[in-house]
Amino acid sequence: MKDTVKKYGEWAVITGGSAGIGLAFAHELAAKGHNLVLVARGQKALDASALKLKAQHKIDVVTIAMDLTAVNAPSDLYEKTKDIAPGLVVLSAGSETTGHFTKVALNAHSNLINLNIQVPAALARLYGADMIQRGRGGIVFLSSLFGYQGVPLVANYAASQAYILTLGEALHVEMKPHGVDVLVVSPGLTKTNMPAQMPVDFWKMPITKHQPVKVARVGLRALGRKASVVPGYVNKVFAFENRFLPRLWPTKMFGFLLKNALYKDQKPKLLNAVARRS
Ligand SMILES: NC(=O)c1ccc[n+]([C@@H]2O[C@H](COP(=O)([O-])OP(=O)(O)OC[C@H]3O[C@@H](n4cnc5c(N)ncnc54)[C@H](OP(=O)(O)O)[C@@H]3O)[C@@H](O)[C@H]2O)c1
Repeated sequence: MKDTVKKYGEWAVITGGSAGIGLAFAHELAAKGHNLVLVARGQKALDASALKLKAQHKIDVVTIAMDLTAVNAPSDLYEKTKDIAPGLVVLSAGSETTGHFTKVALNAHSNLINLNIQVPAALARLYGADMIQRGRGGIVFLSSLFGYQGVPLVANYAASQAYILTLGEALHVEMKPHGVDVLVVSPGLTKTNMPAQMPVDFWKMPITKHQPVKVARVGLRALGRKASVVPGYVNKVFAFENRFLPRLWPTKMFGFLLKNALYKDQKPKLLNAVARRS
């Protein structure tokens, strides 16, 4: 899709716009002529990204440093940006937790549910209503290949991505008649800070690794044409095999691969010892 400014309007809001996949979307949208609002916690990274984007693409960039998990943060963000009538919203801020479900701190689980589920749902509700009023707009959700089945050791993360996948597909159908395009992008492993900070040696897993720019390009090509997209052929096979296999098989397979790929020195901290039955 070439003229996204004409189709959706000038301004795009990107949560998680200072790094990784969100920043890649920022560059792709800037190249199409969109002005951007970048949202993340760290002001320094936001400023650095904004500087580059402005210099490379001659666009306007506004940065908003906020923790989206703070009380009322989605409403505050919406209030701060509603006057520019954002035509596109990319919901890329997200977090993960790795380890046996009972080994991960309860507040880490709750924060993840807030950032990965409640925040994007609230923002889609707030911006989506205005887009429907205007009869045009686009919302891009970031889910994951892990959202296509339960995944042991990242159980809460995978479940949050399943929520986003289902929510986005339903909203695609609900909002299409009102001129609003909703898309869920479900990347596999992508070279960003997120997997780099996980206690997992992903080289031990038989999965392909993509650059964030590929994810953003595939996403923007699919926006307006599809409800959901999985970048990469191998990832597509992983996502769609679930339709033909018994439901628990991919869950067991990913659980096995992930456990095998955990860094050895991290295992005692992340795994529960299995009590042997006599
Ligand atoms: N990378 C992968 O392999 C992969 C695969 C599948 C799906 N995904 C999904 O893609 C999305 C983007 O992931 P990524 O790999 O690009 O992550 P990333 O490189 O870690 O970037 C995350 C972005 O979100 C911001 N952020 C994190 N917590 C925030 C908070 N509480 N409030 C506001 N902003 C926050 C970060 O900036 P600050 O830290 O400064 O706040 C950063 O800009 C996520 O939803 C992730 O689940 C990633």
